[in-house]
Amino acid sequence: MEGFSYNNKKLHCEQISIEKICKKIDTPFYLYSSKGILSNFNALSNKLKNCNVLIAYAVKANSNISILRLLAKKGAGADVVSYGELIRAIKAGIPGKKIVFSGVGKTDLEISKAIDHKILQFNIESLHELHTIEKISREKNIKANIAVRINPDIEAGGHPKISTGKKTDKFGISITEALKVYKLASDSSFLNIVGVDMHIGSQILQIKPFNNSFKKIERFCKKLESINIKIKNIDLGGGLGVNYSDKKNVDLTKEYTNLIKNIYSSTKKKIIIEPGRFIVANAGILVTKVIYKKKNDKKNFIVVDAGMNDFLRPALYDARHNVKHVIIKSNKSNSDFFDIVGPICESADVVAENANLDSDIKKDDLLFIDNVGAYGATMSSTYNSRSLIPEILVHKKMFYKIRNKMEADDFIKLEKIPNWLK
Ligand code: LLP
Repeated sequence: MEGFSYNNKKLHCEQISIEKICKKIDTPFYLYSSKGILSNFNALSNKLKNCNVLIAYAVKANSNISILRLLAKKGAGADVVSYGELIRAIKAGIPGKKIVFSGVGKTDLEISKAIDHKILQFNIESLHELHTIEKISREKNIKANIAVRINPDIEAGGHPKISTGKKTDKFGISITEALKVYKLASDSSFLNIVGVDMHIGSQILQIKPFNNSFKKIERFCKKLESINIKIKNIDLGGGLGVNYSDKKNVDLTKEYTNLIKNIYSSTKKKIIIEPGRFIVANAGILVTKVIYKKKNDKKNFIVVDAGMNDFLRPALYDARHNVKHVIIKSNKSNSDFFDIVGPICESADVVAENANLDSDIKKDDLLFIDNVGAYGATMSSTYNSRSLIPEILVHKKMFYKIRNKMEADDFIKLEKIPNWLK
C-alpha cells in the first residue's frame, strides 16, 4: 500500500490516523493517499522521462475530479470512454490535446463533443465507427484525429473478464482488417490519421504478453509506413498489474518501461500509455466497521457496513483483497478466521474469506479493505437502495471530502410516480 502505514498500532494515511478521520466521517468511505498516487505516477514517468511519452491515465479506474486534477498537475493526459469521463478530464484541467477516446460504443453525441474538444485521437474499434466519425466531422467541417485499435490476438494472462486482446473479444480490429481501415481513412479529407492503438487487458503481471503485442504493433507501424501512411503516435494501452496479495511481490515497472524505451528509440514516435490500476489501486482503502458478529457450525462471519454495491470486485471477479484492523489491539495469538460479509441480500456479497482478525473483534470496530483505489468507487452502485459512499483524499496531515455521500433520499428525488398511478 502506497501512502499507508501503521504508527503505534494505528493505521495512518500519510500523517493522519484513520481513527481520527472516522471521528468526523461516518463509515463506509473510500480514502486515498495523494502521495501514494503521485508516487505510482512518478514510478512510471521517472523511468520514461527521456522518451516522448504521454501517460494518458485511464479515467475509468478512478474518475474523481480531484484525482484527475492531481494527475493533470503532473502532466498526465487521459484515456476516456464516455462523455462523462471526457468532461471530468476537461474539468480537471486536462486539455483535449492530451485526451484519447477509447471504447467500442462511442455515440454520435460523444464523438461530436470530443471533436469539439479537439482530442488527441479517437481509438477506433470498427469500420462502422470510422464511417460515423467521418460523417460527423464532415458535418462539423472539422478534421478528427484517429487511430485504429488493433486486436493483436494475444492472451494477456489476467482474468478472462478483463482480457481484451483476443480475436474472440469484442475489442479492436484484426491486423489485416485494420490495414483496410487505414487505407479507407487515408482517402477521407475529414480524417487525420495520427496513430495506432491497442490494449490487451488488465491486471497483467507477466512481461511476455506486453512484449509480444508491442512487437506486433511495431511491425504493423512499419507496414503502414511502407504503404505511405504516416503516424505520429503509438498508443500501447494500459494493463500493468499490481500486487493484491501481501505475499506476491511482482514489480514489472522496469521491464515494462524498458520495452517502451526500446520502441521509442527505434521509432522516435510519441508513445502513449493508458495505465489506470497501476496509478491508483494501492493508494486507496475502503474504511468500514463491524455491525454484527455471527457464527454457525461451519463459519465465523463478520457483517460489515460496506457491501458489494460499494465494492464489487470480489463478487464480480472473485478478486481477493485483504481486510485488516484500523487499530491493532492484540498480538496474533488471539486471532481467528472470519468471512467478512456485507449487508446486501446476495450470497456473493463476501468482501473476503478467511480474514485473520482479532478473535475478540466486536461491534463498531474499524476495519479496512486494502488496494481498492482502482475500480472501487467507479464501479459502485446503489443496489438495495443504498447510498453512494463518500470519497476522501488525504494530503499530508489534512483530509478532504472529494465526493459527498449520495443518500437514498437524493436519488429517490429523481424518480416520479406518473399521474395515472397516483
Ligand atoms: N485502456 C483501455 C482501453 C481500457 O479498456 C482499460 C481498462 C485501460 C486502459 C486501463 O487498464 P488498467 O491499466 O487499469 O489495467 N474492472 C476491472 C478492470 C477493467 C479494465 C477495463 N479496461 C477490475 O476491477 O479489475
